[in-house]
Amino acid sequence: MSQISTLAFDLEESSGQGHGMVAFVDPKSHQIVECNDSLSEALGVAKTQILGETVFQVFTSKSRRSAEKVYRSFLKTQSVSEAELELEDTDGKGIPVTLRLSGARDEKGKIHCTRFSWHNISDLKKETNRLREKVALGLREVNKRGKHLQKEVERRKTTQSKLRNTVTLLRRRAKETRILAKRVIGIQEAERRRLARDLHDETNQKLAFLSLQVAGLMQGLPMKTDQLQQHLQSVLDNISSLANEVRQLAHQLHPAVLEHLGFVEAMEAYIAEISQSKEFEIVFRHRNVHKTIPLELSLCLYRVAQECLGNVIKHAHARTIQLSFVGFAKSLRLSIRDDGIGMTPKQFRGLSQGLGFVSMRERVRLVKGRLRIKSKPRKGTEIHITVPRVENIS
Ligand SMILES: Nc1ncnc2c1ncn2[C@@H]1O[C@H](COP(=O)(O)OP(=O)(O)OP(=O)(O)O)[C@@H](O)[C@H]1O
Ligand SMILES: [Mg+2]
Repeated sequence: MSQISTLAFDLEESSGQGHGMVAFVDPKSHQIVECNDSLSEALGVAKTQILGETVFQVFTSKSRRSAEKVYRSFLKTQSVSEAELELEDTDGKGIPVTLRLSGARDEKGKIHCTRFSWHNISDLKKETNRLREKVALGLREVNKRGKHLQKEVERRKTTQSKLRNTVTLLRRRAKETRILAKRVIGIQEAERRRLARDLHDETNQKLAFLSLQVAGLMQGLPMKTDQLQQHLQSVLDNISSLANEVRQLAHQLHPAVLEHLGFVEAMEAYIAEISQSKEFEIVFRHRNVHKTIPLELSLCLYRVAQECLGNVIKHAHARTIQLSFVGFAKSLRLSIRDDGIGMTPKQFRGLSQGLGFVSMRERVRLVKGRLRIKSKPRKGTEIHITVPRVENIS
């Protein structure tokens, strides 16, 4: 009697939980001896049809075998057991449940009644499936994006490798151009030197001889040929001014003084020459440049200064040009400043027709130096060249 009342209590409590389906089973015959309404409602059959049936009949054929296994294992171990299975309902879809087995024991501790309690997990399953689908969808999207990213990475890799090839090619071309520029500048200097020597040794000598001849002629003429004397004197003057110009030209082409006396003296001589007839003032200052400068460096600086001064004369309309040449422990700096009309970046970046800036930059680069230009329209121009003071540059 006490056992029955315990079962009744258990059943009521289980029904109160709403979803809880409970049945009590005889462990020997496996027949259902009692069950609650929740179970009969869920299975869609009357309670009277359930009682007396083997408990395994309430499971779908799919999960019957597992139910038997769980039950047998429970009886053997006599410990509480749990599993996920399916109950068979009338429409044959099956109700997903969790099964919990527990037993009521007699005085000897032996199970005399097994309690099957099922919990309907349809909603949980649905939610799990919904989440699973969502995750699968997310995964598909991630995969899709991953593939897209992979393609993008591949595309970038290809572009990068193409760019690398182009950079290598450009570097090679730049190197070739540098070698070519160096050769061109070398050839140009050699040619200038040859021209200067020819002008000095041949043309100038011939002019000197011609002026001696004219002077001789003048001496041999009788006094009364005054007009002729005057005429010859003017020929003589022309010859001497021509000789002067040829000398200057030879000097500009190849300043021998640069080789023999150095940059400062060559610059002073050049400034004296160009200052003669012009309407501007050139101020040249130098500091700490006593040490001898390698010819390659002084030639570079001289040519750059020549081009800068030439540019100021040609384009700047300046009144004052300041040249400064300063020696530091490891470098030399030449600066040319003018108070002229200045220029736009397009002009000084060498984008104009002229070759002056292009050649200047190339010469400075060949001696591993740096060229900086500061200029603005109507604000004058400053050009700074810094070169390392090394003995052997190439
Ligand atoms: N000191 C300066 N003041 C104003 N403009 C200048 C000055 N130096 C150069 N420029 C401008 O920059 C341009 C480029 O100079 P660059 O020396 O390269 O060529 P260029 O003197 O015109 O020709 P090239 O030097 O080949 O005879 C010049 O045409 C001129 O307009
Ligand atoms: Mg120029």
